[in-house]
Amino acid sequence: MQPGRSSRTAMYNALFRALEGQRGSHTRLFVDPLAARFLTAPLAAVVGLAKVPGGAALVHRYIDHRWPGVRTSVVARTCLIDDTINNTLDRRTAKRWQFVALGAGFDTRPHRLTSLRQALPFEVDHPDTQTAKRARLAGAGAVARTDIRYIATDFNVDQRCPLLEDHEYDATAPTIIVWEGVTNYLNADAVDATLRWCSTVARGSILIFTYIDRNVIDDPSSYVGTHNLAKSLARSGEPLTFGIDPQQLPGFLADRGFRLLSDRGASDYRLLYYGDCARNMRGHEFYRVAVAGVERSGQSSRSTEAAHSITTLS
Ligand SMILES: C[S@@+](CC[C@H](N)C(=O)[O-])C[C@H]1O[C@@H](n2cnc3c(N)ncnc32)[C@H](O)[C@@H]1O
Repeated sequence: MQPGRSSRTAMYNALFRALEGQRGSHTRLFVDPLAARFLTAPLAAVVGLAKVPGGAALVHRYIDHRWPGVRTSVVARTCLIDDTINNTLDRRTAKRWQFVALGAGFDTRPHRLTSLRQALPFEVDHPDTQTAKRARLAGAGAVARTDIRYIATDFNVDQRCPLLEDHEYDATAPTIIVWEGVTNYLNADAVDATLRWCSTVARGSILIFTYIDRNVIDDPSSYVGTHNLAKSLARSGEPLTFGIDPQQLPGFLADRGFRLLSDRGASDYRLLYYGDCARNMRGHEFYRVAVAGVERSGQSSRSTEAAHSITTLS
């Protein structure tokens, strides 16, 4: 991230979500009523252009040409994560669920998902992004919740569990942690330290996180669209720095106290939400969404990993 500036990539994700909500009521995958609030003037103008007749097709075509697959991957993964949260919250527990968004950016799930209304929400993010988000939400009125607990941290610098800083966080209550669009911008130590403290939350908790296939860092030219994407990310000060080999993911997580429940790549989750249209979508195939259960608080569980089958949640 650029010093003193909120995350550009977080803003682009908000743009893609705002644009999705403007598609026709029969075709759109979700509506995010707050997304447009977070956009700076040029990106707000893009949303404005998408409202005029023929504008949306033009805007989508331009974005998809410039960054192949990114918009559709962000939209489909938003649905996949929403559905995983909704399915998880169907489970009854004796205690109230808690919801933690790590690197929350301009994500608005606590405000827009009905299933999260009863959950206690926490957002952990870099101070520069969090300050901008809070300022933009200030005038949002009744659509925005006012009970979010905000905790500012830099994952690359401070590797202690930030939740412990909030006395309302209940370490014995089940928690859904969403870590979306973040690991690929961190260093390996920060990912490791964050996963280790995530694994200390109550058993029965769920971690939903995204990561990139590390092959895209080693061999970017083998993927469609990476040239322009890498240039844009470098300009934003948010280059791709960390990835995992999907084959290694079950062991990687087991070593850190998690059991992998599902792991889907962008081609797969786009197919799930866009149906046959997804067969013509190219780009961002290296992007993945994983769901893991907290297995044994803070302990390695490699020995038991083989005993569990990998299930698919949706
Ligand atoms: C691509 S955005 C994702 C935002 C949101 N989760 C989403 O999916 O739309 C990356 C997020 O990671 C956060 N981030 C990046 N580096 C960070 C760091 N070192 N410490 C804390 N947060 C960081 C940014 O502030 C931003 O909110």
